[in-house]
Amino acid sequence: MDFDRSIKIAPSILAADFADFGRDIEAVEAEGADWIHVDVMDGHFVPNISFGPQTVKAIRKHVRTVMDVHLMIAPVDPYIDAFAQAGADVLTAHLEAGPHTHRTLQAIRSAGMKSGLALNPGTPVEAAAPLLDLCDLVCVMTVNPGFGGQAFIESQVGQIGQLRAMIGDRNIHVEVDGGVDLRTASLVADAGADVLVAGTSVFNGGTAAKPRAYGENIRALREAADNAKGD
Ligand code: DX5
Ligand code: ZN
Repeated sequence: MDFDRSIKIAPSILAADFADFGRDIEAVEAEGADWIHVDVMDGHFVPNISFGPQTVKAIRKHVRTVMDVHLMIAPVDPYIDAFAQAGADVLTAHLEAGPHTHRTLQAIRSAGMKSGLALNPGTPVEAAAPLLDLCDLVCVMTVNPGFGGQAFIESQVGQIGQLRAMIGDRNIHVEVDGGVDLRTASLVADAGADVLVAGTSVFNGGTAAKPRAYGENIRALREAADNAKGD
């Protein structure tokens, strides 16, 4: 995984066909997705349950780009090896998931994955400052995690800009997750995000059998973000 700051569109499979992840992943990749975003929820850290490492391992075979696994679970540490075995390229844990995030990020890297740190909307981005050198990615949540299709929280745009400034010239991706559509893609790209997670706004209007809308959605998001890009 080489580092660059170009805009990457990462469809969230939370909005895909749960009975046929493989085909939907192949379809969005064929239509231009840069990364595949995989949301793991435990019904404890967030009020919803999605799937676990066995499912992630099964879908790995269908991912040719980058498998970006977003853990909305607590605790994280007992499951790091399972997600490494499942083939995650990036493993992201929430700062709010436990008291020892520093150790968690170290353990993710030790297991051979890129480390991601996610921040809930209620968490000030300054809280990530002491952890940045352990991060390959920081994910700013622009919804409260747990569900797809929620409204973008506008006040998070300022936090994205602050985070981008804190990162400076370090090779750390700025990811944004939640409510990304054509309008908000511009806002977050202008603020300095380079990885745009999008569920509803990618999968809307298409199916794996008729994937043309996936491609149109991805291209439109990329264009909106590229046109607005700040740096
Ligand atoms: C929210 C998840 C997101 C979600 C985004 O808890 O982390 O990845 O799928 O969905 P949209 O793009 O529909 O807001
Ligand atoms: Zn996510």
